[in-house]
Amino acid sequence: MLTRVSVTNFRCLQNVTVRLEPPTILVGPNASGKTTLLRALDPGRLLDEQDFWQGRQGSLKREFSFDDRPRVVDAWSLVSTPPRLNRSQQPDWPGFRYQLLQLQPVKLRNPNLLQEQTLLADDGGNLANVFVTLARDRQNQLVKDFTRLVPVYRDVVSRPSQGGHHRLVFQDRWSDVWDEPAQVSDGSIGPDQIDGLQGLLEEQRTSAQLIGNRHMGKQ
Ligand SMILES: Nc1ncnc2c1ncn2[C@@H]1O[C@H](COP(=O)(O)OP(=O)(O)O)[C@@H](O)[C@H]1O
Ligand SMILES: [Mg+2]
Repeated sequence: MLTRVSVTNFRCLQNVTVRLEPPTILVGPNASGKTTLLRALDPGRLLDEQDFWQGRQGSLKREFSFDDRPRVVDAWSLVSTPPRLNRSQQPDWPGFRYQLLQLQPVKLRNPNLLQEQTLLADDGGNLANVFVTLARDRQNQLVKDFTRLVPVYRDVVSRPSQGGHHRLVFQDRWSDVWDEPAQVSDGSIGPDQIDGLQGLLEEQRTSAQLIGNRHMGKQ
């Protein structure tokens, strides 16, 4: 798991180290650097001059610490005459997959055209397909986590809709009534239940740190 990230001269982050726990929640006023930190975590992203702190020349570094492997370093340098951007150290990302999720309750409720899907869409829009694709014990674990977090429900299953679609339905804990996705509150299905989803997502990637974004629609 990714346990620590240190950033030097990346956009507004001049020298910042953050320890990551599952889950880590970033809270702060506008322009305090939350989105910038999430961006810094993307190993696949190539950098440009605007990524350097105040556009100044110098070196930009991202260091990632994992609990099970040596630190990974990504370092860039910028010199202005002649303008030149260099990657001075290329990271080696064995098995590291990055996904910035912005789960949206309205999308999480989507009926899906039934198909096998193992990777959750960034907005959670294919949750029903990912759920039915899971092995039964993973499904059971997910339902267990979900019903612990949202005790008004006792079970979640996929049910067929029209035109080859299906959706998730939620069984009331104290009766046999099944709620449709539209009847489930944002608080129940929404990004705040990231802990429940985490069980599902850990299956998909071996060691990436999940970043849940609690503010819907805006990073
Ligand atoms: N290259 C840069 N150097 C310094 N500050 C930068 C740079 N690029 C963007 N910023 C500043 O970073 C801040 C944006 O932070 P951001 O991560 O979007 O905040 P949040 O997501 O917490 O609202 C803005 O104040 C912006 O001006
Ligand atoms: Mg932001």
